[in-house]
Amino acid sequence: MLASMERAKEEGADLVELHIDCMSFSHISEVEQLLNQRTLPAIVSFRLNSASASSRGECKTKTKSRCLQILRLAVQLDVEFVEIDLEVAFDGIADFMNARSNSKIIVSTYVNSGRPSTEKLGNLIACLQSTGADVIKLVVDVVYITDVAPVFNMFTHCQVPLIARAVGDRGLISQLLGPKFGAFLVWGSLGGTSIPGLPPLLSIKQVYKLEHINASTKVFGVISNPVGHSKGPVLHNPAFRHTGYNGIYVPLLVDDVKKFFRVYSCADFAGFSVGIPHKEAAVGCCDEVDPLAKSIGAVNTVIRRPTDGKLIGYNTDCEACITAIEDAMRERQVANGEVSHTSPIAGKVFVLVGAGGAGRALAFGAKNRGARVFIFNRNFERAKALAQAVSGQALPYERLDTFRPENGMILANASSVGMQPNSDRTPVSKEALGAYNLVFDAVYTPRDTRLLREAAEVGAIVVSGVEMFVRQALGQFKLFTGGLAPEDFMRRIVYQQF
Ligand SMILES: NC(=O)c1ccc[n+]([C@@H]2O[C@H](COP(=O)([O-])OP(=O)(O)OC[C@H]3O[C@@H](n4cnc5c(N)ncnc54)[C@H](OP(=O)(O)O)[C@@H]3O)[C@@H](O)[C@H]2O)c1
Repeated sequence: MLASMERAKEEGADLVELHIDCMSFSHISEVEQLLNQRTLPAIVSFRLNSASASSRGECKTKTKSRCLQILRLAVQLDVEFVEIDLEVAFDGIADFMNARSNSKIIVSTYVNSGRPSTEKLGNLIACLQSTGADVIKLVVDVVYITDVAPVFNMFTHCQVPLIARAVGDRGLISQLLGPKFGAFLVWGSLGGTSIPGLPPLLSIKQVYKLEHINASTKVFGVISNPVGHSKGPVLHNPAFRHTGYNGIYVPLLVDDVKKFFRVYSCADFAGFSVGIPHKEAAVGCCDEVDPLAKSIGAVNTVIRRPTDGKLIGYNTDCEACITAIEDAMRERQVANGEVSHTSPIAGKVFVLVGAGGAGRALAFGAKNRGARVFIFNRNFERAKALAQAVSGQALPYERLDTFRPENGMILANASSVGMQPNSDRTPVSKEALGAYNLVFDAVYTPRDTRLLREAAEVGAIVVSGVEMFVRQALGQFKLFTGGLAPEDFMRRIVYQQF
């Protein structure tokens, strides 16, 4: 515990919580020694229903008496915060209040029934407050991210400082957004380890910088499932600070996107990135959808319009990948002394591999620029449906390697072939790449895919999925803030991260 405390200090914690019920000690003097040697302000707690208590096989009465003994010691030693469970609060709180010098008393309770209503939590808050505690603490099991909303509501009900935590992956925002709603404190996990529902302390300090969050902070986030892999938080949070915009961007592990928008409908939930698998369902949640996103049938960005609160959907993937391809071709044209006032994609054969979300964005973008679009997809029916939507042509996946109607074509991979952990794979053989003037790969993990490496080796212009990622993020940031995005700054972060 002392070693963990040192680590917490190094990582920037203001205080630590010491679960004495987890400690194995033969005599209470060992607890006294620990508390005397603490190197940070502490909360001392002793949970009555913890696994350690039951593994010792103690009866409830013995556990309660041990708990009160430890907490009394903490009060005597003037520990900053002493936490007592509601179950025994009335047995000990008067005694603690009389004996304390500087210790603050926290009374806590754990609700493990899942999906608590505002009414039920309100009654619990009233009960916790009636103990006369200095601070109260609510730990709640949640099933969906929407179950965290009643927990946020408790901050407005509460007359004393409140600590609230929703447990599990879907409760993570209770910690990240806690400071916005007035949480007395939030928890972080040590050593960069991820504990479901707890952000690593290092990310609280370095990415989210929660000390800057206040009631006026606008909330943004990425709606996805899974969401843990998203690079959005490490990009958008520093960009908000860089531009002086009071915003926070958090991972939102959402199961039902429609319900999410219904529950988090206040103006402070200002904008969202939308990821797998919600891009299509999110279209139906918007009050208005940008025409390009509508034709693609997917939104990757949703903004709550400040003037009337309506949800507006956009797709920044499409322009991101198409402009990345165009700019690379223009650059080559300039180097060759060529001048063109039309899109360099216009009239070109555009070979698209994949017909999922990224494939749809590329197909509509290429069609809008006047390319002749040919679609290859493992599932041929999907290729046919997309080809019809963009007046292109679908061809059997097996013909991809031999397809060569002309030279100087554009190849865009929007399938996940070549993505980690299968980075030794490629959708098109090196021999077939000679027919292409430019090769784009939407896959960005790894940054340098086998497809791009081999395309460069045969002399094609190569455009990486990382470039698409940067551009779609810049597009989102502009929509989020209604202004400009710090392009150089964001570009630098993305290229450092990938
Ligand atoms: N750079 C960026 O900003 C960006 C943005 C979005 C996506 N991406 C990347 O683009 C890729 C596709 O993403 P998505 O959102 O379009 O996913 P998606 O909607 O799930 O589509 C996946 C596509 O990959 C194909 N596919 C999967 N496994 C395959 C295999 N073993 N052989 C052949 N084809 C296979 C699928 O074909 P079937 O239809 O036959 O299943 C489908 O066309 C991913 O690697 C993703 O990371 C990058």
